[in-house]
Amino acid sequence: MSQTGSNKDVSEENLPSEQATARDGAVVSADDPFADPGLPPHQHRVQDIDERAAKRSERTVALFFVLSMLATVGFIASYVAFSIDKIVYVWPLGHVSALNLSLGLTLGVALFFIGAGAIHWARTLMTDVEVSDDRHPIAATPEVKAKVMSDFREGVDESGFGRRKLIRNTMFGALALVPLSGVVLLRDLGPLPEDKLRHTLWSKGKLLVNQNTNQPLRPEDIPVGSLTFAKPEGLEDDDHDFQKEIAKAALMIVRIQPEDIKDKRELDWSHEGIVAYSKICTHVGCPVSLYEQQTHHVLCPCHQSTFDLADGARVIFGPAGHALPQLRIGVNKDGYLEALGDFEEPVGPSFWERG
Ligand code: FES
Repeated sequence: MSQTGSNKDVSEENLPSEQATARDGAVVSADDPFADPGLPPHQHRVQDIDERAAKRSERTVALFFVLSMLATVGFIASYVAFSIDKIVYVWPLGHVSALNLSLGLTLGVALFFIGAGAIHWARTLMTDVEVSDDRHPIAATPEVKAKVMSDFREGVDESGFGRRKLIRNTMFGALALVPLSGVVLLRDLGPLPEDKLRHTLWSKGKLLVNQNTNQPLRPEDIPVGSLTFAKPEGLEDDDHDFQKEIAKAALMIVRIQPEDIKDKRELDWSHEGIVAYSKICTHVGCPVSLYEQQTHHVLCPCHQSTFDLADGARVIFGPAGHALPQLRIGVNKDGYLEALGDFEEPVGPSFWERG
């Protein structure tokens, strides 16, 4: 291990070829290729021998710290001067908030120059002499090892572990069986979910009902750019399983111009650009609810996962691991929107095995 010590000149310039004592006292032998060569001779930096160079470095370090101070002042000034609504175009980032940009830049510059000043100070002016500090040997001595083994054997003899086979074998049996108590307690976790997590209340022919008005939806009820929440028909608010099942079956419906839909399956599963997706975020299950009609992006407010509803609801940002499941829909003979089956994959958090 090496560490910084006092700034003294300890260079060794005339080591004999056969054997020498290096700066840290290590013996260097020409016959032993594994001998500790010690530290290389210390090289003086220009700042160590030239006071004017040292002064220059000092001024450079001070300049860095002053630049950091100015950047901090700029940070505060930006905060006062810019409104959050002021948008500027910055290549290649595009349109960004001037406030965020200026705060980020000035704070970054302030931190950078503190780091640069500290590094330049350490490299040019602080002492750079290395000294070695030998570790004590890690391995135990043969005497200690022998003592440990003898204590261990003595303990085995005194416990009768080797002699009393009946005790030893029954103890192994007891230790092997005791974890089974924990396995039995797993039953208390409740019945197995079986395939309930893979299915929702949607099935072929179920009407899409507006979650707020409880009225079946027609295509003309879904204008372009709106976001509508729906549930399957036949779920009343006082239904015993309503809360549980609606959480799984909750649907969001948007209408997108068919030519804007990039995903072929999505287009096939839509009706004249009306697409229906699970409202349950595939990250940890929050309701996805913030829809931006220009981009067709929908945002989960919990951890900002963003899904592109014009491209199979794939994840374009955030921690969600899977696209939102799509429900295949059509229109029945009476002109109402209906499901053409259940979701083809489990809805909700993506830690469930998908399939
Ligand atoms: S629950 Fe939606 S991003 Fe975390």
